[in-house]
Amino acid sequence: MAIELDSYKHAAAKIDDRDVDYGGFRDRPLSPEALRCLRYMCDIESHTVCYPRDLLVTPSHADPRVTTFLTMWAYEEYLHGEVLAKVLDAPDIPTGNAHIAAVRAGLGWRDRWAPIQQALAANLIGVDFVAVHMAWGAVNEWSTHAGYSRLAEREQHPILTDVLGRLMRQETRHIALYATQARDRLLRSARARRLTRFALRRFWAPVGSGMMPRAETTHLVGYLLGGPAGATVIDQLDERIHRLPGLDGLGLVGGSSGSPVRSGPRRGSSSG
Ligand SMILES: [Fe+2]
Ligand SMILES: [Fe+2]
Repeated sequence: MAIELDSYKHAAAKIDDRDVDYGGFRDRPLSPEALRCLRYMCDIESHTVCYPRDLLVTPSHADPRVTTFLTMWAYEEYLHGEVLAKVLDAPDIPTGNAHIAAVRAGLGWRDRWAPIQQALAANLIGVDFVAVHMAWGAVNEWSTHAGYSRLAEREQHPILTDVLGRLMRQETRHIALYATQARDRLLRSARARRLTRFALRRFWAPVGSGMMPRAETTHLVGYLLGGPAGATVIDQLDERIHRLPGLDGLGLVGGSSGSPVRSGPRRGSSSG
């Protein structure tokens, strides 16, 4: 998908869901397993705005194209949270400001330490950090897109499939932007390739695992990526990651025995 950072600011948009019959979720309720996944996804999308906080203290802030992208990306992801909140409205699952504030408060000292830690490490690394950031973003956007796709496939609920399809179209654009930036920056620098490979292998974990309870991440990963269909998705994700310069054979999502997906989450990871 050929889309540049400069043109994305004109393309970023609120999802038009005026024709979505959210009341249909009362007539045909979603399964408890799907609702549990959607609650996780809604919390993560609503948390996205917190990641620019951690990234604007790194060398990523120096590139105005990257900061413009982050601005529009956070806007779209925030609105994804709003759309998913409407899906969760029928079964009365808590969303909205009070809920979001409680989720953030529950993160405690880790949340306060994150931007300090990231600022120190990223500024020591310098401009090659931006490659790590972009590759990390690509991995998370690929994972998020795959998660929505698998949820629609498992649930077979026409309204949910429609809603998730609208979100996935925007996630596809996020993927294109992150992956293009990652590819360009990794191609330019052997040091960026080494750092990115190290950072992903050492610190990456499924999207949202740093803020959601471990049991919730385990459920989400097991429900969406378990079984033969899930194994195929895991392999597809790794194939995409391996096509990024310097990441061939990384086996990040499922290829190694210590994989966070096949053996459970370990550390935090930002939103897609
Ligand atoms: Fe999203
Ligand atoms: Fe996204």
